[in-house]
Amino acid sequence: MKPVKPTAAIETKALHSGYTPENGGPRVLPIVQSTTYAFDSSEHIAALFDMPMEYMYSRFANPTCDAVEKKIAEMEGGVGAMLCTSGQAASLLSVLNLAQAGDSIVAVSAIYGGTINLFGFTLKKLGIECIWVEPDASDDEIRAAIKPNTRLVFGETLANPALVVFDIERFAKIAHENKIPLIVDNTFATPILCRPFEFGADIVVHSTTKYMDGHALQVGGVIVDGGTFDWKASGKFPEFTEPDESYHGVVYTEAFGPMAYIIKARMQLMRDFGCYPAAHSAFLLNLGLETLPVRMKQYCENALTVAEFLEKHEKVSAVHYPGLASDHYHELAQKYLPLGTSGVISFNIKGGRTVAERFINALELVTNEVHVADIRTCVLHPASSTHRQLTDEQLEAAGIDGGMIRLSVGLENVKDILDDVAQALEKA
Ligand SMILES: Cc1ncc(COP(=O)(O)O)c(C=O)c1O
Repeated sequence: MKPVKPTAAIETKALHSGYTPENGGPRVLPIVQSTTYAFDSSEHIAALFDMPMEYMYSRFANPTCDAVEKKIAEMEGGVGAMLCTSGQAASLLSVLNLAQAGDSIVAVSAIYGGTINLFGFTLKKLGIECIWVEPDASDDEIRAAIKPNTRLVFGETLANPALVVFDIERFAKIAHENKIPLIVDNTFATPILCRPFEFGADIVVHSTTKYMDGHALQVGGVIVDGGTFDWKASGKFPEFTEPDESYHGVVYTEAFGPMAYIIKARMQLMRDFGCYPAAHSAFLLNLGLETLPVRMKQYCENALTVAEFLEKHEKVSAVHYPGLASDHYHELAQKYLPLGTSGVISFNIKGGRTVAERFINALELVTNEVHVADIRTCVLHPASSTHRQLTDEQLEAAGIDGGMIRLSVGLENVKDILDDVAQALEKA
């Protein structure tokens, strides 16, 4: 059997990319649950230590993981990918592959809260400064945030939980004017709804824990390299263009061309940090990927129906869902997410925290979870969970309404979801 054509549609890639069965071999992706690989000669192993282009040790490469990496790279339209044990690990390594102590990065303020902590507090301890810009900042404000030591710009296609749509093309243009790459966290959109490389992004990261896995089975992440950023022409990345003394003097741009970024990430960072998933985890992720195209369409359809219902409900004061024509980000959503804006909605209930808590407690089908983007509908009340220490006044200062609910619409029959939300609103 031949590998899938590069021109194949994304539904076909989700099912056929990555792993091509041998004649008479297993049809499904085999789980190579082995830490190690056997070689005939010490010369062979010595050559691998110089240039680790075959499987050597499962701290940084494994055949099952490799197949899933190839599939995700093809679905995103990139040249290579590297799985990580979490989305957090993927975000961290994507940055550490470019920035070191004394450097800065520019990040959009509307991103996942865990990434805000990582960039604002933990990277600071490592000597990397994060400069924040508003998603709606003007071009000049973004340009002003980029300093001579800035190594990258970072944003999230569809921000968790604010559901702000990131203007990828505009930020990519400004990053490129400054000879630095744009990294996009594409977790909520997935390559089914948006492919950031088509709008100028250079690197894509995902928390695969969310829609890619889809079934709330395991935490995971991935970094994808678009292969188009010219590290040499930029002149700002000597780690790519000068010999790496930790790898026998390899020069990544010369040895690996368009795959310089992703191979450097594996050879330096995964080698040293070892946050690589087990083969079995990659196998489960692959099952999620196989049905991702059909699932994403249904999440969007169900969520739009629920968002339209909430928008008209008398007990709801605001709905944030870029798929709604009335949403502030609808125009950007039409450009970047024409097929839909995922299953996640955030909305505010009139009456604040107490009413929101009563609403959550009254739900019967929908479960209260610290999770999102699951196959089953789930809900979270930030004011009584992730932000529970804050008073109503403090929540307001932080821009969080005490009545704000994050609803992750799943794949149940939408009528059942609506019935449950309606009865809970009634009781609230
Ligand atoms: C957009 C986004 N990026 C990154 C992460 C971190 O991923 P993980 O929980 O897999 O470490 C999350 C988690 O919620 C997320 O929503």
